[in-house]
Amino acid sequence: MSSLTATAVDVRYKITNVSHTFPGMEVQALKDINLSITSGSFSSLIGPSGCGKSTLLNTMAGLLSPSQGQVTLDDQNVTEPPDEVGIMFQKATLLPWRTAIDNVLLPIELRDGAKAAATFSDKAANLLDTVGLAGFHEAYPRELSGGMAQRVAICRMLITEPEILLLDEPFGALDELTRERMDLELQRIAAGRTATVVLVTHSIPEAVLLSDRVFAMSARPGSISDVIDIDLPRPRSMETLNHPAFGAYVSQVRDALNRGHDYV
Ligand SMILES: Nc1ncnc2c1ncn2[C@@H]1O[C@H](COP(=O)(O)OP(=O)(O)OP(=O)(O)O)[C@@H](O)[C@H]1O
Ligand SMILES: [Mg+2]
Repeated sequence: MSSLTATAVDVRYKITNVSHTFPGMEVQALKDINLSITSGSFSSLIGPSGCGKSTLLNTMAGLLSPSQGQVTLDDQNVTEPPDEVGIMFQKATLLPWRTAIDNVLLPIELRDGAKAAATFSDKAANLLDTVGLAGFHEAYPRELSGGMAQRVAICRMLITEPEILLLDEPFGALDELTRERMDLELQRIAAGRTATVVLVTHSIPEAVLLSDRVFAMSARPGSISDVIDIDLPRPRSMETLNHPAFGAYVSQVRDALNRGHDYV
């Protein structure tokens, strides 16, 4: 096998028979999840509110140990946050006493110290510019809207150039047009660095636009109800929305979600 072929099919994450019940109220959030994430792929997790998407992402990030089953990254059990993983949480949490740019520099400061962080200022500034925050480097979180804070949090995640991005509804607070722009920006960043991305989203078109593979989850306890491979040409753009297959994929994901959504 050529090295190119080997890279194309390399499994990074492997999730085997993962179930999770939160103690206390004994809420079963995940039930028998099995999935693999290959190197350089873009995957989306989509499913009804409360079906366990964030819980699953937290197990992949090493922040939560599942009550049953196994999560491995590059064949190693994930027991703590792996260095190569960047996570963006559902709620953007910025430090209120630091400016936007100093929030972006925080992971470098924590990793390498304040002196080293100073050498990353230009990079942090460029990242903020690419997400449309050119005039807001010195703004404090209280001076930013929710969507602007989310964009700062995205920059903070990207500053360390993680190989693997775990994104929990990163664009939830953005307006439609900014969201589309950020979607394409995310694709560019992921493709440029051959990053492996797992995106949690509630938007079916967003999942189809960005993903190689969409995992549809059923209502709680969450399990994978369908796996839909999206075979649309790359790079994707707003033109992709007009591709004849785009609408068919959207319907396919919607049908999968309807099947897994047994509200009675
Ligand atoms: N720390 C926790 N302690 C107890 N129960 C929890 C905890 N976190 C999540 N849960 C429960 O687990 C289930 C799944 O929650 P989770 O946050 O993973 O859902 P989700 O799919 O991310 O939902 P949403 O789309 O609304 O973000 C829910 O029923 C929730 O109440
Ligand atoms: Mg969630």
